[in-house]
Amino acid sequence: MRSIKNEKNLNNKVILLRLDLNVPLNQGKISDTTRIDKILPTLNFLMRHETKIIILSHIGRPKGKIVNELSLKPIREDLQQKLNVKVKLIKDNIYKIKDKNFFNDFNEKILILENIRFYAEEEKNDHNFANHIASLGDIYVNDAFSCSHREHASIHQISKFLPSYSGLQLDLEVNALNKITSEITEPITCIIGGSKISSKINVIKNLIPKLNNIVIVGGMANNFIEYFGHNIGKSVKEKNCNKIVKEIILLSKEKNCQLIYPEDVLVSKNLNGLSQNKELSQIHSEEMILDIGPRTIKKITNIIDNSKTILWNGPAGYFENPNFAKGSTEIAKKIIENKKVNKVYSVVGGGDTVAFLNYLNVVDNFNFVSTAGGAFLEYLEGKKLPGITALN
Ligand code: 3PG
Repeated sequence: MRSIKNEKNLNNKVILLRLDLNVPLNQGKISDTTRIDKILPTLNFLMRHETKIIILSHIGRPKGKIVNELSLKPIREDLQQKLNVKVKLIKDNIYKIKDKNFFNDFNEKILILENIRFYAEEEKNDHNFANHIASLGDIYVNDAFSCSHREHASIHQISKFLPSYSGLQLDLEVNALNKITSEITEPITCIIGGSKISSKINVIKNLIPKLNNIVIVGGMANNFIEYFGHNIGKSVKEKNCNKIVKEIILLSKEKNCQLIYPEDVLVSKNLNGLSQNKELSQIHSEEMILDIGPRTIKKITNIIDNSKTILWNGPAGYFENPNFAKGSTEIAKKIIENKKVNKVYSVVGGGDTVAFLNYLNVVDNFNFVSTAGGAFLEYLEGKKLPGITALN
């Protein structure tokens, strides 16, 4: 990988910079700015080198449609304030922008193109779309490690048309994860939660042979609870997963990897409600599972006590409502307690997990914090990420 930090002749070049500005939004307000804060050094570096910057990013999953709530507008405002330079959001249809001279129309040094996933071509890794975006710049930089597992036009296909480089944050994440995976000590426990079930459930199978314990919490755990014959009411789950759940259970036995999923849970009738502790057999049809229960917490914290490495991606519950933050809080506390006495090496990753740790104000108490969730897990799995391959 060629890193942009080693490039000298960047003056006046138009840089197409792919970032992951997919930050959590709550009623149009950014609830955690970590992903923005982490890429400020890259933007400052490019500005020091007198470049013109076009930022490409997605937010959420608009599936090729314009969704006003998923505009990059709040991100533009945050960036402008933090960088102390004018940043302009270009809402025009990308196809109307003809070439890089369009920069001359503006005083700003930094432009952001509106959510790249408003175009269906992005997720299709469309050749012509990537070619068109590439025609707007001189150099492509990927500083979005957390999206590099996606074979999308602005991450993968675009590198075919321009000299392509890694950004400062991507370098940092890849180097750290390489070091971690080459020096990892057993017993290794991986805790996987969060709500993006479809991206993660397939990764688990490939991770099992590398792990001693795998702890399944969050939305994905509901698929396991249902598989064992319990009613999960209105809880989130992924459809048609029984086959993969069965394979995961069988493989974990074969590979001697202990599989842990919730034994008891906290439920409510709605996301803003109060919590009620329930045995798995007691969940009613109008209830949803929103956190792990006390017995499960005890089991997981015992496992943490007996691990030398903890990899954690995805909160255990719906922590946005403090009534359901207990599971994630106890997991975080236990990891931190063990890390303080050097008993455990801890790596956490993912937008929501980092947001949660910021909410607890403990994000600095882990050995490494990755901005990536799905990409982090796929990297640990040993998979070649399309965004990284494209830079090689
Ligand atoms: C993430 O939040 O992990 C990245 O932004 C990728 O998002 P995606 O899972 O919607 O592709």
